[in-house]
Amino acid sequence: MKPVLEADYFPPSPKKKEWSTGLVKAVSTLVIFMAGIVLGLSVSGHFTRYFTTRSELFFPNTVYAAAAAASCDRECSAMERFVAPAHLAHGMSDDELFWRASMVPRREEYPFERVPRVAFMFMTRGPLPFAPLWDRFFDGHDGLYSVYVHSLPDYKLNVSKSSAFYGRQIPSEEVRWGTVGLVDAEKRLLANALLDFSNERFVLLSESCIPVFNFPTVYKYLTDSAHSFVDSYDEDSWRGRGRYSSRMRPDIQLSQWRKGSEWFELSRELAVDIVADSKYYSLFKKYCRPSCYPDEHYIPTYLNMFHGSSNANRSVTWVDWSRGGPHPATYGRASITEGFIQSIRNNGTACTYNSKPTSVCFLFARKFAPSALEPLLGLSSKVMHF
Ligand SMILES: *[C@@H]1O[C@H](CO)[C@@H](O)[C@H](O)[C@H]1NC(C)=O
Ligand SMILES: *[C@@H]1O[C@H](CO)[C@@H](O)[C@H](O)[C@H]1NC(C)=O
Ligand SMILES: *[C@@H]1O[C@H](CO)[C@@H](O)[C@H](O)[C@H]1NC(C)=O
Repeated sequence: MKPVLEADYFPPSPKKKEWSTGLVKAVSTLVIFMAGIVLGLSVSGHFTRYFTTRSELFFPNTVYAAAAAASCDRECSAMERFVAPAHLAHGMSDDELFWRASMVPRREEYPFERVPRVAFMFMTRGPLPFAPLWDRFFDGHDGLYSVYVHSLPDYKLNVSKSSAFYGRQIPSEEVRWGTVGLVDAEKRLLANALLDFSNERFVLLSESCIPVFNFPTVYKYLTDSAHSFVDSYDEDSWRGRGRYSSRMRPDIQLSQWRKGSEWFELSRELAVDIVADSKYYSLFKKYCRPSCYPDEHYIPTYLNMFHGSSNANRSVTWVDWSRGGPHPATYGRASITEGFIQSIRNNGTACTYNSKPTSVCFLFARKFAPSALEPLLGLSSKVMHF
């Protein structure tokens, strides 16, 4: 299988690059000056062609401050738009997006009241069968979370306006399983979420994931944690060390190679660092080819090399591999009982949290089939307290 190359989707357009780089610089200095640039550019044929072809003429929020001036009513200031973009649509290529998302303020204090948020990032090809369960989970906690959805590029999520998923699809690309395209999609989710300066923790979830604790518990667990939760272990087998390529030497040594489930949870600091990395990412793109799976090795290895002490080395997403085979067990309607959900919430496993032992190891669980939705809604308030 051929990895999905960014360039197939984002043919480089030097003119556009110069132009948006200039604007991003300008944003930080002069809003009025920028509005002027946009006005000027809007009369140029290039600008009009670029935006109309992308149907973004009315949502040009690559141009944060200018968008605020152009499409906002008086209430929203350029600063608000800079701190948290109002629309998720943008015209940035991955390179432009990752560059922008990797920026970190050097000042420690924020010039606004910053309430840390948890970014829930869903990777799906299309539908989100558990959206009604998640909506119940999110209900009443506005301002403490944000939702991002990466799907097939043409997929339109059909959810009501009151859903937490409404309008939360990010500009996406097709992903082929087992290719570096999956890492690209993870980075795209992280980068879009990083544009909101209030997002502090970043959870990757799939369409078959469910929450097993209520929002306040999950929020506290993640925002109070000194560690990120990324599976990262050394496995001396063909599925572990066997996937290492010696061509990654000298930058990545076999002893540094790690494996782990892709369903990560990251602090903002680590998320920025992963979006910023191109050196190690490039090595994976070049040398981690089938049957090496970049999504199972890149982040676990990278964190082991540079952020080992910040990682709990375990995932907060429960999964059942006990049946063997290449895919974990999927649970449908018939499996959903109080006892089963209780055993995930507290299944006797001891793990550590902030260096102390705990029995709460998993906040989320996979994989569930759509038929599990109804029974889960039936017992969520009793068993999961939401
Ligand atoms: C979207 O969902 C609503 C309510 O479930 C349904 O009536 C409608 O047909 C759906 N629209 C599409 C395009 O699937
Ligand atoms: C996770 O593994 C790293 C080695 O990569 C280690 O330094 C660190 O202490 C481990 N984290 C915890 C919480 O045990
Ligand atoms: C707890 O979960 C793990 C997998 O995540 C499983 O291996 C183990 O058997 C479970 N233990 C109990 C007592 O259910």
